[in-house]
Amino acid sequence: MRSGWGKLIGGAFALASILAVSAYPAVAQEVSALYKQHCLKCHGPEGKGDGEQLKKVKGKAVDWTNKEEMGKLTDEYLLDIILKGGGGVGKSKIMPSYKAKLKEEEAKALAAFVRSVAK
Ligand code: HEC
Repeated sequence: MRSGWGKLIGGAFALASILAVSAYPAVAQEVSALYKQHCLKCHGPEGKGDGEQLKKVKGKAVDWTNKEEMGKLTDEYLLDIILKGGGGVGKSKIMPSYKAKLKEEEAKALAAFVRSVAK
């Protein structure tokens, strides 16, 4: 667990610095905090879909480190499922909708983060 957290935090900080010089400067530092707060429990410390909560409910999400699997998903789909939830895009309702909890630019930054995991 300890090393997992370390990896996530390191990864998210690296991402934050990439984002800081690109599209979403205002939310760059927030991405890591947002991920930890909302997503880690299901998507896991490295985005592999092995979070404790997801294991408990036997849900299955894509391993974001898998380039081939991620290549099948469009950027639009990633943002859509974050905002509308699994139920909103005809997928598992275990994936919650974050429309009410996140600003659109935060959701966009998280979608970019999800995409960056496989690179
Ligand atoms: C309660 C568990 C849970 C939480 C919390 C959660 N997700 Fe998910 N998520 C899922 C499940 C399950 C799927 C798979 C849906 C499907 O394909 O049927 C999923 C799918 C996704 C996908 C589509 C690619 C994939 O992995 O299948 C993205 C992108 C995503 N989630 C992002 C997020 C983000 C960002 C957050 C935090 C803001 C988050 N999720 C929080 C359970 C969760």
